[in-house]
Amino acid sequence: MKKLILSLLLPLNLLAQTDTSSFDQKMQWFNDAKLGIFIHWGIYSVNGISESWSFYNEYISHEDYLNQKNGFDCSEYDPEYWATIIKESGAKYAVITTKHHDGFALWDSKYGNLNAVRNSPAKKDLLRPFVTALRKKDLKTGFYYSLPDWSFKDYTHHTKSQKRYKIKEDPQRWKRFLNYSDNQLLELKNKYDPDLWWFDGDWEHNEEEWEIDKIKSMLSKDRTDVIFNSRLKGKGDYETPEIGIPVYKPKSKFWELCMTMNDSWGFQHNDKNYKSPQQVIDIFVDCISKGGNLLLDIGPKADGSIPEEQVHILKELGKWTSKHKEAVYETNSGIPYEYFYGPTALSKDSSILYLYLRDIPKDNKVLLKGIKNKINRIYVVGNGTILSHNVFCKVYWNAYPGITYIGVPQNVLDDYYTVLAVYLDGKINLYDKYNAAIESN
Ligand code: GLC
Repeated sequence: MKKLILSLLLPLNLLAQTDTSSFDQKMQWFNDAKLGIFIHWGIYSVNGISESWSFYNEYISHEDYLNQKNGFDCSEYDPEYWATIIKESGAKYAVITTKHHDGFALWDSKYGNLNAVRNSPAKKDLLRPFVTALRKKDLKTGFYYSLPDWSFKDYTHHTKSQKRYKIKEDPQRWKRFLNYSDNQLLELKNKYDPDLWWFDGDWEHNEEEWEIDKIKSMLSKDRTDVIFNSRLKGKGDYETPEIGIPVYKPKSKFWELCMTMNDSWGFQHNDKNYKSPQQVIDIFVDCISKGGNLLLDIGPKADGSIPEEQVHILKELGKWTSKHKEAVYETNSGIPYEYFYGPTALSKDSSILYLYLRDIPKDNKVLLKGIKNKINRIYVVGNGTILSHNVFCKVYWNAYPGITYIGVPQNVLDDYYTVLAVYLDGKINLYDKYNAAIESN
């Protein structure tokens, strides 16, 4: 009996292991990427009002909202430039709104009747050249797709006070809607084959109503490595906190913070409340130190040009990421703040500890506590200067590893974040005991 149970358990156990490791393998490029660029582009950029929500919340009528399509000319749209500037920022992937909650599709969809080709002076498929440009630059392609479509006649919700129907009352009508969105999703999959699906708007229905499992299996067919965000009632591959950097490291293994550069996802003429490059990098470093990604949003104008403030942020970010490559990509989350008063990250093999210094260190020194390893070398990332360090409070009669003071002269400081690479004699080993008085003699 015991044997039988064992033989039954063994393959199951093995299977579970393979599953985890193949999941990790699938997530590897995403986990190593650290930076992605989100793009909210649609007819809302014409008047510069909030994407879809402006009519849903009844600030303007649906008709006036849709009339913006006549101004969506995309005359300056330069997808090669978009891909170039995205690459320059140091991002490894981009996620573009193929269709927001307003239902306006950026591609030549055979389904529905709102798209850039048929219903705007752009008169072209805006996705194809962008996807091609991204791939040419070895950037991964992510598609944002809104589950709700507030303009579509068979969708349940239209505006906050106008609901068309309840699914229970007319399940056939809901089927017609699902049929339409499944067709659009299949069309996107077959035409462009994205590497990542970024769903949004799942709050309006439950898992069964959306038919989440069906969507996932349909889009994973012949593409088992495709990645899904978790706005599929949680049934995705990674968590997507929004706007604010999580105070605590998110629980799930993979996560991505999506964030605006100012206060808007799409282009808004009046919104000049941009974060400075320093503030964007503050948030980015926080993501890296907590083992996550930053998906930083840009909102191109209706003519397809990218606002200069946004280009500026991308370029400054690019200067920092290219100088600090080794401390950005392929890193894991760092050590607790008890050991270092600031963000940190670890190399994949945990033998290099990266310390991110935002401010000018007092007395030209920073301190690190409780590292049991021998420190082989410390240098300034992207600069190469070797730094000296001293250990204090290390006595031979207990195991407490002491406090390490690292000298950081002013001349090595970066404009945004200086990064120190602390090379350890092996995998990091943290002292995690309460100090005893005398442990040996
Ligand atoms: C929210 C909003 C949407 C925006 C998205 C980005 O879900 O509904 O307008 O596109 O966040 O994460």
